[in-house]
Amino acid sequence: MVDENKKRILTGIRPTGALHLGHYVGALHNWIDLQEEYNCYFLIADYQALGDHFNDIDLIRKSVIDVTIDWLSVGLDPAKSSFVIQSYVPEFAELTMLLSFITPLGMLERNPTLKGELDSLEIEKRTVGFYNYPMSQVADILLPRAQLVPVGDDQSPHVEMTREIARKFNRMFGEVFLEPDTLIGKVPRLSGTDGQGKMSKSKGNVIMLSDDEETVNKKVKSMYTDPNRIRADIPGKVEGNPVFEYHDAFNKDLEQVKDFKDRYQKGNIGDVEVKTALAKSINQFLEPIREKRVYYENNISLVEESLNNGITNIKPLASQTIELVREKMKISKYIR
Ligand code: TRP
Repeated sequence: MVDENKKRILTGIRPTGALHLGHYVGALHNWIDLQEEYNCYFLIADYQALGDHFNDIDLIRKSVIDVTIDWLSVGLDPAKSSFVIQSYVPEFAELTMLLSFITPLGMLERNPTLKGELDSLEIEKRTVGFYNYPMSQVADILLPRAQLVPVGDDQSPHVEMTREIARKFNRMFGEVFLEPDTLIGKVPRLSGTDGQGKMSKSKGNVIMLSDDEETVNKKVKSMYTDPNRIRADIPGKVEGNPVFEYHDAFNKDLEQVKDFKDRYQKGNIGDVEVKTALAKSINQFLEPIREKRVYYENNISLVEESLNNGITNIKPLASQTIELVREKMKISKYIR
């Protein structure tokens, strides 16, 4: 089932909630295509989720299953790819620990993504574990010796760190690791429905992959548009307008999108028409996903099977890497 001749990809997600349209546009859409050509390991990084959710294990537990159902519903295929729960493969933790001994503190201190996240994290959540999460991400990527890591650009410092650590380990102890390349998605980030930038479930500015038709209609109706356009006959702005950003992402009728944009910029169309068509496009996009979701929710054993199979697939690779690491580092095997 796992084709050893294909290049290996590892990428992941923290299970801290069900997934939304932003996850689809920014990541899943790309992953669905990649699984045709690569041997993909999709990681549910529950250890990493502990970083800022150590006091909400129930949410992590629920999200492991929610994320898996989201993955299956959008078309990630456990027959082609491996879904892996991080904590089921203790080699991830062991490799994190071993690599931490050759990783200078400065690498974490200089990591811009980590820096930004620490700054916005409440002080009591700034733990050693959180601080060390890029290190654990390095181990995530190196354990299956992945060649490619498809991620958003905010994650590229972690991949750069992975390359540095791989190089350092190989130089010090001998060749074990590959230096992975980043595969930055071509799609821009989708804004929140409130037009205030980043999507976040806690801000309530997201459309979930699991939202029903009525919820989508409601959310689209209240979506932020050009605030200066108080009447339909006032010319409006299309750039930076989430309604048009979403049209570009989800409306397959390109002629209609172009027509809407023209008329919007001329003050020749009402918001209701633009939004009604958008809600329809999003619902059309979500409909087959909803059908699959119902199927998987009624067949939870298939969801569990997809996770069990993924874990079974990565286990031999994980223990092979760890054995090699121990051997090269000349760690353990002190007695017969
Ligand atoms: N940090 C990633 C995120 O928050 C999730 C992640 C964990 C990951 N391990 C990874 C991504 C390894 C790529 C490779 O989305």
